[in-house]
Amino acid sequence: MSNLMNQSFALPCGQVIKNRVCKAAMTERIAKGNNLAHQGHANLYDRWADGDMGILLTGNVQIDRRNLEGPANVVIDENNYKDQYDALKDWSAAGTKNNTQLWMQISHAGRQTPGEINSSPLAPSNIGLKNSR
Ligand SMILES: Cc1cc2nc3c(=O)[nH]c(=O)nc-3n(C[C@H](O)[C@H](O)[C@H](O)COP(=O)(O)O)c2cc1C
Repeated sequence: MSNLMNQSFALPCGQVIKNRVCKAAMTERIAKGNNLAHQGHANLYDRWADGDMGILLTGNVQIDRRNLEGPANVVIDENNYKDQYDALKDWSAAGTKNNTQLWMQISHAGRQTPGEINSSPLAPSNIGLKNSR
């Protein structure tokens, strides 16, 4: 890695990022059962954290199962959080090894919710996406 890419920097909040490499949010779509995180998420981020990234942004982790971005999104809600507590801890531990930052993208898909998931998604306004549905 070039010297600049390898330079650490501090955010105003005090968090220090070890280099300038950030993995973009990429939806995993591998949740199981009741939209649960599992060992597969930990395995994936364990591998990425081995890649010397400064920040790993997770894919969408949803707060409302009626408005997913896609099938098999992880959802954390009052009905399932206890069932995936350990898996979420393992995912976090895997993605933060080697002094890597793991930033969970906490999401609500809003108007980007696919019609096959919800034909009347909840969104801040009733303006639909161009060229969709
Ligand atoms: C396979 C794939 C999955 C993605 N999933 C998400 C996601 O879950 N959340 C998000 O905000 N952006 C997602 N994106 C968008 C990327 O994070 C990124 O913003 C986008 O690819 C633009 O970056 P690029 O110009 O370097 O490709 C995804 C992109 C790809 C290609």
